[in-house]
Amino acid sequence: MANPDSHVTIHMAASLDGFIGCKDGRVDWMETSDEFADGDSLDPEFVEAFLKTIDCYVMGSRTYETALSFEAKGFGWAYAEKPTFVLTSRDLPRTRDTVEFYSGDLAPLVNERLRPKFRSIWFVGGGVVSAECLRLGLADEVRYSILPILIGDGIQFFDKLDRDVALHLAEVKAYKSGMVELRYEARGHRGESRNAT
Ligand SMILES: NC(=O)c1ccc[n+]([C@@H]2O[C@H](COP(=O)([O-])OP(=O)(O)OC[C@H]3O[C@@H](n4cnc5c(N)ncnc54)[C@H](OP(=O)(O)O)[C@@H]3O)[C@@H](O)[C@H]2O)c1
Repeated sequence: MANPDSHVTIHMAASLDGFIGCKDGRVDWMETSDEFADGDSLDPEFVEAFLKTIDCYVMGSRTYETALSFEAKGFGWAYAEKPTFVLTSRDLPRTRDTVEFYSGDLAPLVNERLRPKFRSIWFVGGGVVSAECLRLGLADEVRYSILPILIGDGIQFFDKLDRDVALHLAEVKAYKSGMVELRYEARGHRGESRNAT
């Protein structure tokens, strides 16, 4: 049964020119050194409390592989003990009990399995999966954190999104680091195609 309180968020950080990663996997560009005096501070205690409000994560296999490589380099696992659903048609290593693999149509996964069980469902990339989620009309909101840098080429936030998706700008926050977070609400109805405008 659908949970009226459930909420699907897509969140990633991107360069100003809309790339979430370099094609060669380079991530050093994400460490920016800008300062915006009038911006808010990202208080670690606030971040920790906020992360606790997320009930589960969904990600594509390439994002999962990136997360595993970060972990192997000693940066830890960013998704704590939260259930993490990894989309893949391949046989990937399952490194913890919280990880579950899924292959196939995203709509039944989200509407029949995740929404009844979880309130705050976060899609954390990459570009292929975020486009798939929006194309199917499954997202309630998009959180787009723009980093103060241009990188010229890379993997797009929304890979091959083949139609217009109307959004409502709900919140804008600027941080001392020069990062700007945009929060948009997606229009339309869950599980149905949203009308292009
Ligand atoms: N800047 C950020 O905030 C951020 C966040 C996340 C990721 N990233 C970066 O983005 C890159 C990865 O993004 P990406 O767009 O290349 O890939 P992705 O979205 O992470 O993964 C795409 C892959 O997931 C699998 N998949 C997707 N939908 C599926 C479905 N319905 N059923 C079964 N499998 C499905 C497919 O691979 P297989 O079936 O072949 O496994 C597909 O090729 C990495 O470089 C990562 O570092 C950046």
